[in-house]
This record gives sequence, C-alpha cells and structure tokens, in this order.
Amino acid sequence: MNSEAALARADWWRDAVVYQVYPRSFYASSGTGFGDLVGISHKLPALKKLGVDAVWLSPFYLSPQHDAGYDVADYCDVDPLFGTLADAEALIASAHNLGLRIIVDLVPNHSSSNHEWFQLALASAPGSAERARYMFRDGDGSEPPNNWQSVFGGPAWTRVTEADGSPGQWYLHLFDSSQPDFNWENPEVSDFFDDVLRFWLDRGVDGFRIDVAHGLMKVPGLPDLSENELADTSPDAQKPFWNQDAVHEVYRRWHNVLAEYGPDRILTAEAWVWPLQSMAKYVRPDEMHHAFNFAYLSTSWNAQNVRGVVDESLAAFGAVGAPSTWVLSNHDVIRHSSRLAMGALEAIVPGGLGPDSPDKPDHDVAMRRGRAASVFMLGLPGSSYLYQGEELGLPEVIDIPDEKREDPTFHRTNGERYGRDGCRVPIPWEKDAPAYGFSPSGQSWLPQPEVFGELARDQQDGVDGSTLELYKTLLRARREETLGTGTLQWIETDSPQVLGYRNGRVSVFCNFGEQPVSMPAGDVIASSVSGATDTLEPGHAVWLTPAN
Ligand code: GLC
Repeated sequence: MNSEAALARADWWRDAVVYQVYPRSFYASSGTGFGDLVGISHKLPALKKLGVDAVWLSPFYLSPQHDAGYDVADYCDVDPLFGTLADAEALIASAHNLGLRIIVDLVPNHSSSNHEWFQLALASAPGSAERARYMFRDGDGSEPPNNWQSVFGGPAWTRVTEADGSPGQWYLHLFDSSQPDFNWENPEVSDFFDDVLRFWLDRGVDGFRIDVAHGLMKVPGLPDLSENELADTSPDAQKPFWNQDAVHEVYRRWHNVLAEYGPDRILTAEAWVWPLQSMAKYVRPDEMHHAFNFAYLSTSWNAQNVRGVVDESLAAFGAVGAPSTWVLSNHDVIRHSSRLAMGALEAIVPGGLGPDSPDKPDHDVAMRRGRAASVFMLGLPGSSYLYQGEELGLPEVIDIPDEKREDPTFHRTNGERYGRDGCRVPIPWEKDAPAYGFSPSGQSWLPQPEVFGELARDQQDGVDGSTLELYKTLLRARREETLGTGTLQWIETDSPQVLGYRNGRVSVFCNFGEQPVSMPAGDVIASSVSGATDTLEPGHAVWLTPAN
C-alpha cells in the first residue's frame, strides 16, 4: 500500500498493527549508550518493511529519567538525551512520508518532581493554589495521611520540608517519590492537559497512549485500604485509586479535543482494570479508541484459558462497538516468549526475572511458544500491539548485574523485585558490530547478553524460517486477507489442547499441549516452526488457507 493510501483511512485503528518503540533502547545515533529520536527516524524504513501500520513511542520528553521518562518535567519539550523538538517533528514527518502513523505517550497521572509546577508547590504554603495542583495532605501526627502503598514498593506518600525548615505536608505518589500525582479535581490540571494534547496534535501526531489511564481520580477522602486490599498485590486488585468512574469524564473531554483535528486521531488506554467489561468502558464511542488487552496478555499457556479470554474480549469490546486489541509484550512485563514458558499471572508484573529467580524459563520452550503465540495472536480480528524486539524473538534478559539495574521497582524494594529492566535491553541490529549495532560507540545503558548476537536483525533479515521473516509473512498475509476487520469462528479440534479458528479464508491452529497432533488440511501460509511438517508439534501454530 502506498503511503498516501495508508494514511487515508479514518478508521485505520480498527485493524492496525502498532509497534511500540522504547526510545532509549531502540537505536542510538550517537555515542551515549541511549537510543534517540534521530536513531528512530533512521530505522523507520525497517519498521515499514516489517509491515506495521503505526509506531507508538514511549516518552521522550524532558525528564530526570527516574522512571525511564515516565517522570515528565516538561510535556512539550524533548529530553536532550533523545534529541530536540525539531528531531521529534522530523520523526513525525518521516513516518508520515512512509505511510506510518505516530502515537506518542501521555503521562497525565503524575509529573516529575522536577516539573515547574511541583517545584512551585514545594516553595508555596500548605493550602496554596500551587499545592492544589497535586495531592498534598497533612499527615496523621508523624504518620502519612493514609496507608496507600506505591506500585513500585514502599509508602505512596513522601513528606516535604516546609519553607521554615519544619517537617511539613505529605504528597501522594502512586509510583516513585519523584512522580507526584496530579490533583485531577482541579480544573487547572485538565486545562493544562488539553493544551498538551493540542501541542502534539499541532505537530501532527496521530494519537496518544494514555499512561495509567485508570489512576487519575481517587476516592474522595482518600480512605485507608482494608487489610485485604493491602495484602492483594495482583494487578486486578480493586483499590480506591484505580478505575473510579470520574476518569471517564476526562476521556470524553479528550475525545472532543482530538475530534477538532479530524476523525482519525486516537487514544489508547493503559488501564489495568478487570473484568474486560470494565476495561471496555474506556473505549465507548465517545471516549478512547483502544485499550490494551491486559487480560489477554496475562493469560497463561493453556488452550481453554486462551479461548475463554478471546471470547470474552470480542464480546466485551464488541458490546461497545470497539475493536479488541491484542498484546503479548511491552516495556513493563516479562517478554512473552520467556513468560509463556513459565507459570501464570504471578510472573507478569511487577516481579521480573533475575539471576536468583526460582522459576526460570527453558530457552527452547520459550522460543517455540513465543513464536506460536504471535502466530495465534496476529490472525485475530481487531488491532494488535507489538513490542520492539519481539519480531526478533528476543527473550527476557535475566543476568543483569544489580548495579546496572535502573528500574525504581528494584531499588524501592531493595532488590526483592527485579523489576522491568530485563525487557528493556537495547535491540541488536548487527551481530558483528559494537553493542550488536545498537550504538556506534558500543555503549549500551544495559548490558546485552550474548544470545543477542545470533538474534540480531541482520542474522534474520531475508533468512527463511527466522522469527523476523515469520512476522513479515504474518503481517503481509494479515493485510492481504483483511484479517483485522474480519470475524472469528472457532473450529472444533480433536484435542482440547489444540485451538483452531477461522477468520475469512485463513484457519489458524495452535497446539498448546504436550503431544503432537496431525496437521489439519490446507496450504500452510505461515508456520511458527520452520520446514514442512505433517504434524502440529507442541508449541506450534500455523495459518492455513484452503488447499488448491
Ligand atoms: C505505566 C508505564 C510504566 C511506568 C508507570 C508510571 O504503567 O507503562 O512504565 O513506570 O506507568 O508512569
């Protein structure tokens, strides 16, 4: 499809494949050991060739980088680590020239403590208008205002020192202490974010991925968590700071801001809410467009569980007229190949994997299941999100030395939780280049493991049977067969551990079990196992079209 045609469809997002770039780890055009915007522009043709429709960029804004840029000090400027505003504009233009859409990250739940507003709040008195932009409260004697805990570990409150040197008020931070939560009851905050949206829309972005979309509003009075709520650290735990109804007003308002720029700009919710019917509320027709399907991502390697979550997703999102999204990996979770070779939900966030983790994935099982899971996912109707490096089959990196780890989760839990660095290791482009081609100087902010050599892009490009060529085949066939806008019909199979579905002309089969079964009839147009086989092996998925 030429670039004009690719950008012409207003409802492109209904079936789009969106590729997540994590800027600091994608490609470094200079010697700092961090990826940058010029580097991303340089590599856009590779993404076009891969066959994706849109690129989502994790934050590249001015930031002290205490949470890898999810701590924003200026929403309308680029951090020098990544380049300049002109580089961002050039990147948007280059993407559009190639027919790729650009989605940027918006972090509205909290700013960095370096943000001008927070600095003003610190310098102002309790009760001032400056403090009213954030969640400042008096403590309970020398104790914090309530017992809420940070997602990254430790208390969700930090006490400030007032101008006269006395111990003062406390501010809320659901994440790191360098990420103070905004007060979304304050109209100044919503006006501010309207302006931020417009700033980037004026620069041509096609949409926003909304960070912690379920967290902006808190239960009035900020009540203590019960003992049970405190003990429940699962991602679906109900808490008085998650998924309050009032968040939806924010998204209805933003929907209208985007509409001023035409019908094709989108919002994607990062909302860790359960059940899927609650998540689907974020994509009602007057709110957002996509919500990351974390229920799908959280499903373990089990045929009946996968079938159940696919049915539930299509029903829940279908009920509000939205496409379901599908996602297996991102910058917050153990890479899906490794994850699917482990246990279930517990393995996802926020534990991470490290040298002393008791349950480590078997490399071969991980490689097999990782590819099969992608083959299964990319045939589903709706929109899919990919995370950089999954098209190379990169595993989670486990052996990162403690002193190199940057995730605040690791530091706030004194190493008890390894956190997310293992999925953020810089991408290998060339086997024999310094830092596997990630940066000209050979620097890399996280050390890359040896296995990245054989998985480097240049080892896979044009190589039959490689993971990269598999992804290209899947994305091409998905487009040609219009699977994204198709419908799913289950095919009953002889084994409960083998799932089959039909979408248009394409039948997809995946063996989640431990025994090989015979290959269903048809021409294999994509297979997670290279070479012709007459069996569907354990951890093997295929796309078939009717035999000629
Ligand atoms: C989201 C981001 C994550 C970040 C957190 C706080 O979950 O995906 O990386 O640490 O929000 O902004």
